[in-house]
Amino acid sequence: MAKLLEIDNLRAGYGSINVLWDLSLTIEEGRLTCIVGPNGGGKTTLLRAIMGLIPVASGQVRFQGLERTNEKTWVMVRDGVTLIPEGRMIFRDMTVEDNLLIGGFPARCRPRAKANLGMVYDMFPRLRERRDQLASSLSGGEAQMLAMGRGLMEEPKLILVDEPSLGLAPVIVDEVMAILDRLRREGKTIVLVEQNTNKALAIADHVYLVRGGKVVMSDTATEVDVDRLHHLYFARDAVNAEPMA
Ligand SMILES: Nc1ncnc2c1ncn2[C@@H]1O[C@H](COP(=O)(O)OP(=O)(O)OP(=O)(O)O)[C@@H](O)[C@H]1O
Ligand SMILES: [Mg+2]
Repeated sequence: MAKLLEIDNLRAGYGSINVLWDLSLTIEEGRLTCIVGPNGGGKTTLLRAIMGLIPVASGQVRFQGLERTNEKTWVMVRDGVTLIPEGRMIFRDMTVEDNLLIGGFPARCRPRAKANLGMVYDMFPRLRERRDQLASSLSGGEAQMLAMGRGLMEEPKLILVDEPSLGLAPVIVDEVMAILDRLRREGKTIVLVEQNTNKALAIADHVYLVRGGKVVMSDTATEVDVDRLHHLYFARDAVNAEPMA
């Protein structure tokens, strides 16, 4: 399997506050990689650093074998990395369809925006029904589907999705997971940040546990020791969590 994204010894944070401490991980092409971990562990910060939304202090981001550390966000998007952000970040005062069309705006995929819109509507029929409604009128689950649909309009090679299940009813969470599972089976490469470990493991190929700004566990989803994962997840003192060898 080809390595699509490689993160080496990444340090990043906010001003004088450092959050990621020499974090390393590898995302294989065509796989669904799940990143789990407690609140404040640095999961969102990692995705922001990959996208060039916050500066990297040291370490490397490589995408498709090319060094992309501190790359401009629009270049990352242009070259096929899509972030479906925590909190969805849809444009509430715009219609569902206009939100989707914004996703299809990069020049690389603009010629196919109409066809891609049809593909997104086929995947999320409720968005088609609500295409002329303001995004502010959507339910939480529909808003998440809109955020995912907008990301797919970018024809991503790598999809970074940050806590898509947050605040959703279990049945809707299952729907969101089923969509991610389907995208993986269609060959997309996905990084899923998720606090619901069991649901994430059910669809993932590989799992990383991030806490205290480090990877403290890395395993294939089928072979992972769930008890150990939960132990490290909930360990009181992050400093005592076993660092990965
Ligand atoms: N804009 C910011 N300015 C300063 N500190 C921040 C900012 N955003 C996040 N942090 C801090 O960085 C640390 C990591 O936060 P991050 O959002 O990456 O965690 P997370 O693993 O995504 O958590 P959650 O599961 O709650 O989403 C936290 O201590 C947080 O308070
Ligand atoms: Mg987060």
